Amino acid sequence: MAEKIILAYSGGLDTSIAIRWLKEERGYDVVALTVDVGMDRDRETLQSRAMTAGAVGYQWADCQETFIRHFVFPALAAGARYQGYPLATALSRPLIAREMVAVARAEGATAVAHGCTAKGNDQVRLDVSVGALAPDLKVVAPLREWEMDRESEIAYAHEHSIPIEVTKASPYSIDENLWGRSIECGVLEDPWQEPPADVYAWTKSPAEAPDEPAYVEIGFEKGAPVSVDGKEVDPVSLVKQLNALAGEHGVGRLDRVEDRLVGIKSREIYEAPAGITLLAAHDALEALTLSKDQRRLKARIAQEYAELVYNGLWFSAHHKDLEAYVRATQRHVTGEVRLRLHKGVATVVGRKSPKSLYDFALATYDKGDEFDRTSAVGFIDIWGLPVRVQAKAQDLGEVDGA
Ligand code: ARG
Repeated sequence: MAEKIILAYSGGLDTSIAIRWLKEERGYDVVALTVDVGMDRDRETLQSRAMTAGAVGYQWADCQETFIRHFVFPALAAGARYQGYPLATALSRPLIAREMVAVARAEGATAVAHGCTAKGNDQVRLDVSVGALAPDLKVVAPLREWEMDRESEIAYAHEHSIPIEVTKASPYSIDENLWGRSIECGVLEDPWQEPPADVYAWTKSPAEAPDEPAYVEIGFEKGAPVSVDGKEVDPVSLVKQLNALAGEHGVGRLDRVEDRLVGIKSREIYEAPAGITLLAAHDALEALTLSKDQRRLKARIAQEYAELVYNGLWFSAHHKDLEAYVRATQRHVTGEVRLRLHKGVATVVGRKSPKSLYDFALATYDKGDEFDRTSAVGFIDIWGLPVRVQAKAQDLGEVDGA
Protein backbone atom coordinates (compact mmCIF):
# COMPACT_ATOMS: atom_id res chain seq x y z
CA MET A 1 0.00 0.00 0.00
CA ALA A 2 1.19 3.51 -0.82
CA GLU A 3 2.24 5.82 2.01
CA LYS A 4 0.02 8.79 2.77
CA ILE A 5 1.03 12.42 2.56
CA ILE A 6 -0.94 15.49 3.71
CA LEU A 7 -0.60 18.41 1.32
CA ALA A 8 -1.44 21.95 2.43
CA TYR A 9 -3.72 22.88 -0.42
CA SER A 10 -4.65 26.39 -1.54
CA GLY A 11 -6.27 25.37 -4.82
CA GLY A 12 -3.78 27.35 -6.88
CA LEU A 13 -1.72 26.10 -9.81
CA ASP A 14 1.31 25.04 -7.74
CA THR A 15 -0.48 22.90 -5.20
CA SER A 16 -2.92 21.49 -7.76
CA ILE A 17 -0.19 20.01 -9.88
CA ALA A 18 1.72 19.06 -6.73
CA ILE A 19 -1.07 16.57 -6.01
CA ARG A 20 -0.40 14.73 -9.26
CA TRP A 21 3.36 15.09 -8.97
CA LEU A 22 3.45 13.62 -5.44
CA LYS A 23 1.41 10.70 -6.69
CA GLU A 24 3.28 10.04 -9.93
CA GLU A 25 6.82 10.98 -9.01
CA ARG A 26 6.90 10.05 -5.33
CA GLY A 27 4.24 7.33 -5.16
CA TYR A 28 2.18 8.89 -2.37
CA ASP A 29 -1.54 8.76 -1.68
CA VAL A 30 -2.26 12.46 -1.35
CA VAL A 31 -4.77 13.96 1.06
CA ALA A 32 -5.30 17.64 0.27
CA LEU A 33 -5.94 19.90 3.25
CA THR A 34 -7.17 23.47 3.08
CA VAL A 35 -6.63 25.39 6.29
CA ASP A 36 -9.09 28.27 6.28
CA VAL A 37 -7.50 31.31 7.90
CA GLY A 38 -9.74 33.67 6.00
CA MET A 39 -8.71 33.59 2.39
CA ASP A 40 -11.51 34.02 -0.03
CA ARG A 41 -11.94 30.46 -1.34
CA ASP A 42 -14.84 28.20 -2.20
CA ARG A 43 -14.67 24.87 -0.45
CA GLU A 44 -16.61 22.85 -3.06
CA THR A 45 -14.51 24.15 -5.92
CA LEU A 46 -11.30 23.32 -4.10
CA GLN A 47 -12.47 19.86 -3.13
CA SER A 48 -13.48 18.91 -6.66
CA ARG A 49 -10.29 20.38 -8.09
CA ALA A 50 -8.16 18.41 -5.63
CA MET A 51 -9.98 15.17 -6.32
CA THR A 52 -9.78 15.64 -10.08
CA ALA A 53 -6.06 16.32 -9.74
CA GLY A 54 -5.71 12.90 -8.14
CA ALA A 55 -6.06 13.29 -4.37
CA VAL A 56 -7.40 10.31 -2.40
CA GLY A 57 -9.06 12.63 0.07
CA TYR A 58 -9.87 16.25 0.80
CA GLN A 59 -10.23 18.07 4.09
CA TRP A 60 -11.12 21.61 5.06
CA ALA A 61 -10.10 22.93 8.47
CA ASP A 62 -12.09 25.92 9.66
CA CYS A 63 -9.47 27.85 11.60
CA GLN A 64 -10.55 31.48 11.34
CA GLU A 65 -11.50 31.79 14.98
CA THR A 66 -8.41 29.98 16.27
CA PHE A 67 -6.24 32.08 14.01
CA ILE A 68 -7.53 35.40 15.28
CA ARG A 69 -7.90 34.44 18.93
CA HIS A 70 -4.68 32.51 19.47
CA PHE A 71 -2.28 33.79 16.86
CA VAL A 72 -3.32 37.26 15.72
CA PHE A 73 -4.52 38.84 18.97
CA PRO A 74 -1.47 37.72 20.96
CA ALA A 75 0.69 39.24 18.21
CA LEU A 76 -1.38 42.42 18.40
CA ALA A 77 -0.84 42.53 22.16
CA ALA A 78 2.87 42.11 21.53
CA GLY A 79 2.81 44.92 18.95
CA ALA A 80 4.40 42.60 16.38
CA ARG A 81 5.57 44.43 13.30
CA TYR A 82 8.41 43.22 11.13
CA GLN A 83 10.33 46.02 9.47
CA GLY A 84 7.30 48.21 9.91
CA TYR A 85 4.42 46.03 8.72
CA PRO A 86 1.98 43.87 10.69
CA LEU A 87 2.95 40.21 10.41
CA ALA A 88 0.16 38.22 8.79
CA THR A 89 1.45 35.41 6.59
CA ALA A 90 4.06 34.54 9.20
CA LEU A 91 1.35 34.14 11.85
CA SER A 92 -0.68 31.72 9.76
CA ARG A 93 2.14 29.27 9.07
CA PRO A 94 2.46 27.71 12.53
CA LEU A 95 -1.29 27.15 12.61
CA ILE A 96 -1.25 25.56 9.15
CA ALA A 97 1.63 23.33 10.26
CA ARG A 98 -0.31 22.31 13.36
CA GLU A 99 -3.35 21.35 11.28
CA MET A 100 -1.20 19.40 8.82
CA VAL A 101 0.29 17.43 11.68
CA ALA A 102 -3.14 16.77 13.24
CA VAL A 103 -4.51 15.44 9.96
CA ALA A 104 -1.34 13.43 9.35
CA ARG A 105 -1.84 11.74 12.72
CA ALA A 106 -5.52 11.09 12.13
CA GLU A 107 -4.85 9.68 8.66
CA GLY A 108 -1.76 7.69 9.61
CA ALA A 109 0.33 9.65 7.11
CA THR A 110 4.12 9.45 7.10
CA ALA A 111 4.74 12.81 5.47
CA VAL A 112 3.38 16.29 4.86
CA ALA A 113 3.85 18.57 1.87
CA HIS A 114 3.51 22.23 1.00
CA GLY A 115 3.72 24.47 -2.04
CA CYS A 116 6.43 26.86 -0.84
CA THR A 117 9.37 27.78 -3.00
CA ALA A 118 13.04 27.55 -2.08
CA LYS A 119 13.43 31.33 -1.95
CA GLY A 120 10.80 32.28 0.58
CA ASN A 121 10.27 32.46 4.31
CA ASP A 122 7.27 30.20 4.37
CA GLN A 123 9.16 26.99 3.65
CA VAL A 124 11.29 27.71 6.72
CA ARG A 125 8.26 28.42 8.89
CA LEU A 126 6.39 25.29 7.84
CA ASP A 127 9.39 22.95 7.91
CA VAL A 128 10.56 24.19 11.29
CA SER A 129 7.05 24.08 12.79
CA VAL A 130 6.38 20.55 11.57
CA GLY A 131 9.79 19.56 12.91
CA ALA A 132 8.87 20.96 16.32
CA LEU A 133 5.49 19.21 16.46
CA ALA A 134 6.21 15.94 14.70
CA PRO A 135 9.90 15.32 14.05
CA ASP A 136 9.14 11.90 12.60
CA LEU A 137 7.10 13.31 9.71
CA LYS A 138 8.90 13.84 6.43
CA VAL A 139 8.34 17.21 4.76
CA VAL A 140 8.21 17.28 0.98
CA ALA A 141 8.22 20.57 -0.91
CA PRO A 142 7.64 19.77 -4.59
CA LEU A 143 8.48 23.31 -5.72
CA ARG A 144 11.93 22.94 -4.22
CA GLU A 145 12.41 19.75 -6.19
CA TRP A 146 10.87 20.08 -9.60
CA GLU A 147 12.32 22.30 -12.25
CA MET A 148 9.19 23.70 -13.79
CA ASP A 149 8.61 27.37 -14.43
CA ARG A 150 5.09 28.74 -14.60
CA GLU A 151 4.66 27.86 -18.27
CA SER A 152 5.74 24.26 -17.82
CA GLU A 153 3.46 24.02 -14.81
CA ILE A 154 0.52 25.07 -16.97
CA ALA A 155 1.59 22.57 -19.62
CA TYR A 156 1.84 19.86 -16.95
CA ALA A 157 -1.67 20.71 -15.78
CA HIS A 158 -3.07 20.47 -19.32
CA GLU A 159 -1.23 17.25 -20.02
CA HIS A 160 -2.70 15.64 -16.90
CA SER A 161 -6.14 17.26 -17.25
CA ILE A 162 -5.76 19.07 -13.95
CA PRO A 163 -8.34 21.82 -13.66
CA ILE A 164 -6.79 25.24 -13.07
CA GLU A 165 -8.29 28.70 -12.92
CA VAL A 166 -9.48 29.66 -16.38
CA THR A 167 -9.56 33.35 -15.57
CA LYS A 168 -6.61 35.44 -16.64
CA ALA A 169 -3.83 34.46 -14.29
CA SER A 170 -2.77 37.24 -11.93
CA PRO A 171 0.75 38.47 -12.56
CA TYR A 172 1.23 38.61 -8.79
CA SER A 173 1.92 36.13 -6.07
CA ILE A 174 -0.63 36.77 -3.36
CA ASP A 175 -1.04 35.43 0.12
CA GLU A 176 -3.98 36.44 2.24
CA ASN A 177 -5.62 35.73 5.53
CA LEU A 178 -7.95 37.69 7.81
CA TRP A 179 -5.12 39.79 9.19
CA GLY A 180 -3.53 40.86 5.94
CA ARG A 181 -2.86 40.48 2.27
CA SER A 182 0.59 40.42 0.71
CA ILE A 183 1.37 40.89 -2.94
CA GLU A 184 4.66 40.30 -4.74
CA CYS A 185 6.12 39.56 -8.20
CA GLY A 186 5.29 41.05 -11.58
CA VAL A 187 6.12 44.76 -11.95
CA LEU A 188 6.55 44.97 -8.19
CA GLU A 189 9.92 43.29 -8.59
CA ASP A 190 11.22 46.67 -9.72
CA PRO A 191 11.38 48.62 -6.45
CA TRP A 192 11.31 51.91 -8.38
CA GLN A 193 7.91 51.14 -9.95
CA GLU A 194 4.86 52.53 -8.22
CA PRO A 195 2.41 49.70 -7.52
CA PRO A 196 -0.35 49.65 -10.14
CA ALA A 197 -3.91 50.07 -8.88
CA ASP A 198 -4.72 46.40 -9.55
CA VAL A 199 -2.52 45.09 -6.74
CA TYR A 200 -4.99 46.37 -4.16
CA ALA A 201 -8.12 44.46 -3.28
CA TRP A 202 -8.99 45.39 0.30
CA THR A 203 -8.33 49.12 0.30
CA LYS A 204 -9.65 52.05 -1.67
CA SER A 205 -7.12 54.45 -3.03
CA PRO A 206 -6.93 57.28 -0.47
CA ALA A 207 -7.68 59.71 -3.29
CA GLU A 208 -10.98 57.95 -3.98
CA ALA A 209 -11.86 57.37 -0.35
CA PRO A 210 -14.81 59.33 1.09
CA ASP A 211 -14.19 63.02 1.79
CA GLU A 212 -15.94 62.65 5.12
CA PRO A 213 -13.91 60.85 7.78
CA ALA A 214 -15.32 57.90 9.71
CA TYR A 215 -14.96 57.62 13.46
CA VAL A 216 -14.72 54.29 15.21
CA GLU A 217 -14.38 53.29 18.86
CA ILE A 218 -12.55 50.10 19.72
CA GLY A 219 -12.91 48.54 23.15
CA PHE A 220 -10.06 46.44 24.55
CA GLU A 221 -9.96 44.02 27.45
CA LYS A 222 -6.54 42.98 28.72
CA GLY A 223 -4.97 43.90 25.39
CA ALA A 224 -7.50 42.17 23.12
CA PRO A 225 -10.13 44.04 21.12
CA VAL A 226 -13.64 43.09 22.19
CA SER A 227 -16.00 45.75 20.92
CA VAL A 228 -16.65 48.21 18.13
CA ASP A 229 -18.61 51.38 18.86
CA GLY A 230 -19.71 50.00 22.20
CA LYS A 231 -21.06 46.75 20.77
CA GLU A 232 -19.37 43.49 21.72
CA VAL A 233 -18.18 41.61 18.66
CA ASP A 234 -16.54 38.18 18.29
CA PRO A 235 -12.89 38.30 17.19
CA VAL A 236 -13.40 37.18 13.58
CA SER A 237 -16.31 39.56 12.93
CA LEU A 238 -14.42 42.39 14.59
CA VAL A 239 -11.46 41.99 12.27
CA LYS A 240 -13.70 41.60 9.21
CA GLN A 241 -15.71 44.66 10.16
CA LEU A 242 -12.59 46.79 10.58
CA ASN A 243 -11.04 45.49 7.37
CA ALA A 244 -14.13 46.68 5.52
CA LEU A 245 -14.45 50.03 7.28
CA ALA A 246 -10.78 51.04 7.32
CA GLY A 247 -10.27 49.64 3.81
CA GLU A 248 -13.11 51.81 2.55
CA HIS A 249 -11.20 54.82 3.87
CA GLY A 250 -7.96 53.76 2.21
CA VAL A 251 -6.30 52.78 5.49
CA GLY A 252 -3.82 49.90 5.54
CA ARG A 253 -1.60 50.11 2.45
CA LEU A 254 2.13 49.56 2.80
CA ASP A 255 4.92 49.32 0.24
CA ARG A 256 8.06 47.75 1.68
CA VAL A 257 11.43 46.35 0.82
CA GLU A 258 12.11 43.67 3.39
CA ASP A 259 14.87 41.33 4.42
CA ARG A 260 13.93 37.71 4.08
CA LEU A 261 15.27 34.99 6.28
CA VAL A 262 17.06 33.40 3.33
CA GLY A 263 19.10 36.54 2.74
CA ILE A 264 17.16 38.04 -0.16
CA LYS A 265 15.72 41.54 -0.18
CA SER A 266 12.22 41.54 -1.62
CA ARG A 267 9.68 44.19 -2.45
CA GLU A 268 6.18 43.52 -1.25
CA ILE A 269 2.92 45.35 -0.95
CA TYR A 270 0.74 44.82 2.08
CA GLU A 271 -2.87 45.54 2.84
CA ALA A 272 -3.87 45.34 6.47
CA PRO A 273 -6.70 47.78 7.21
CA ALA A 274 -7.78 46.13 10.47
CA GLY A 275 -4.20 45.37 11.45
CA ILE A 276 -2.93 48.93 11.04
CA THR A 277 -5.99 50.35 12.78
CA LEU A 278 -5.90 47.95 15.72
CA LEU A 279 -2.15 48.26 16.23
CA ALA A 280 -2.48 52.05 16.37
CA ALA A 281 -5.37 51.76 18.83
CA HIS A 282 -3.56 49.23 20.99
CA ASP A 283 -0.40 51.36 21.11
CA ALA A 284 -2.50 54.30 22.25
CA LEU A 285 -4.09 52.33 25.05
CA GLU A 286 -0.72 51.07 26.24
CA ALA A 287 0.55 54.65 26.29
CA LEU A 288 -2.21 55.38 28.77
CA THR A 289 -1.97 52.29 30.96
CA LEU A 290 1.69 51.19 31.03
CA SER A 291 4.49 52.89 32.92
CA LYS A 292 7.44 54.40 31.10
CA ASP A 293 9.63 51.43 32.09
CA GLN A 294 7.06 48.92 30.93
CA ARG A 295 6.70 50.68 27.59
CA ARG A 296 10.44 50.80 27.05
CA LEU A 297 11.04 47.11 27.67
CA LYS A 298 7.89 46.11 25.86
CA ALA A 299 9.03 47.91 22.71
CA ARG A 300 12.21 45.85 22.77
CA ILE A 301 10.28 42.65 23.35
CA ALA A 302 7.99 43.55 20.43
CA GLN A 303 11.00 43.62 18.16
CA GLU A 304 12.29 40.30 19.44
CA TYR A 305 8.83 38.75 19.22
CA ALA A 306 8.32 39.91 15.64
CA GLU A 307 11.72 38.58 14.53
CA LEU A 308 10.99 35.24 16.13
CA VAL A 309 7.61 34.88 14.43
CA TYR A 310 9.01 36.08 11.12
CA ASN A 311 11.82 33.58 11.44
CA GLY A 312 9.48 30.62 11.88
CA LEU A 313 10.14 29.96 15.57
CA TRP A 314 6.55 30.12 16.87
CA PHE A 315 6.87 26.66 18.39
CA SER A 316 9.86 27.44 20.58
CA ALA A 317 10.55 27.96 24.27
CA HIS A 318 11.70 31.50 23.46
CA HIS A 319 8.25 32.26 22.08
CA LYS A 320 6.54 30.84 25.16
CA ASP A 321 8.67 33.05 27.40
CA LEU A 322 8.06 36.22 25.41
CA GLU A 323 4.36 35.46 25.18
CA ALA A 324 4.17 35.08 28.96
CA TYR A 325 5.83 38.47 29.38
CA VAL A 326 3.49 40.09 26.88
CA ARG A 327 0.43 38.58 28.54
CA ALA A 328 1.56 39.89 31.92
CA THR A 329 1.92 43.41 30.56
CA GLN A 330 -1.65 43.39 29.28
CA ARG A 331 -3.46 42.98 32.59
CA HIS A 332 -4.48 46.65 32.70
CA VAL A 333 -4.63 47.33 28.95
CA THR A 334 -8.39 47.72 29.12
CA GLY A 335 -10.36 50.64 27.81
CA GLU A 336 -11.51 52.42 24.70
CA VAL A 337 -9.76 54.12 21.82
CA ARG A 338 -11.43 56.40 19.30
CA LEU A 339 -9.94 56.72 15.83
CA ARG A 340 -10.57 58.85 12.81
CA LEU A 341 -10.25 57.03 9.49
CA HIS A 342 -9.68 59.45 6.69
CA LYS A 343 -8.04 59.29 3.25
CA GLY A 344 -5.63 56.49 4.06
CA VAL A 345 -4.78 57.48 7.60
CA ALA A 346 -5.98 56.05 10.90
CA THR A 347 -5.44 58.63 13.62
CA VAL A 348 -6.06 58.03 17.29
CA VAL A 349 -8.13 60.97 18.53
CA GLY A 350 -9.23 59.73 21.94
CA ARG A 351 -8.42 57.16 24.58
CA LYS A 352 -9.74 56.25 28.02
CA SER A 353 -9.31 53.49 30.55
CA PRO A 354 -10.50 52.61 34.03
CA LYS A 355 -6.83 51.79 34.69
CA SER A 356 -5.46 54.96 33.17
CA LEU A 357 -2.23 56.38 34.60
CA TYR A 358 -3.02 59.79 33.16
CA ASP A 359 -3.63 62.14 36.03
CA PHE A 360 -5.37 65.36 35.05
CA ALA A 361 -4.47 67.06 38.29
CA LEU A 362 -0.79 66.44 37.59
CA ALA A 363 -0.87 67.19 33.88
CA THR A 364 -2.99 70.30 33.70
CA TYR A 365 -1.59 73.80 33.20
CA ASP A 366 -4.96 75.20 34.18
CA LYS A 367 -6.97 75.40 37.38
CA GLY A 368 -6.82 72.30 39.54
CA ASP A 369 -3.06 71.80 39.20
CA GLU A 370 -1.83 69.67 42.09
CA PHE A 371 1.75 69.24 40.96
CA ASP A 372 4.20 70.49 43.58
CA ARG A 373 6.22 73.04 41.64
CA THR A 374 8.72 73.53 44.41
CA SER A 375 9.92 69.93 44.13
CA ALA A 376 10.99 70.42 40.49
CA VAL A 377 14.10 72.39 41.42
CA GLY A 378 15.38 69.72 43.82
CA PHE A 379 14.68 67.00 41.32
CA ILE A 380 16.63 68.75 38.58
CA ASP A 381 19.48 69.45 40.94
CA ILE A 382 20.00 65.75 41.61
CA TRP A 383 19.20 64.66 38.06
CA GLY A 384 21.75 67.02 36.58
CA LEU A 385 24.43 66.34 39.18
CA PRO A 386 26.50 63.83 37.15
CA VAL A 387 26.50 66.17 34.17
CA ARG A 388 27.78 69.08 36.26
CA VAL A 389 30.47 66.89 37.79
CA GLN A 390 31.63 65.70 34.39
CA ALA A 391 31.47 69.21 32.89
CA LYS A 392 33.85 70.46 35.55
CA ALA A 393 36.48 67.89 34.61
CA GLN A 394 35.84 67.56 30.87
CA ASP A 395 34.55 69.92 28.21
CA LEU A 396 30.97 68.90 27.40
CA GLY A 397 30.01 72.02 25.43
CA GLU A 398 31.82 71.28 22.23
CA VAL A 399 29.49 70.77 19.24
CA ASP A 400 31.10 68.89 16.40
CA GLY A 401 32.22 71.36 13.75
CA ALA A 402 30.26 74.33 15.11
N1 ARG B 1 6.84 38.65 3.02
C1 ARG B 1 5.78 38.13 3.81
C2 ARG B 1 6.30 37.16 4.81
O1 ARG B 1 7.34 36.58 4.61
C3 ARG B 1 4.66 37.55 2.98
C4 ARG B 1 5.00 36.48 2.03
C5 ARG B 1 3.74 35.95 1.40
N2 ARG B 1 3.84 35.43 0.09
C6 ARG B 1 3.32 35.95 -1.05
N3 ARG B 1 3.20 35.16 -2.05
N4 ARG B 1 2.96 37.18 -1.17
O2 ARG B 1 5.69 36.97 5.82
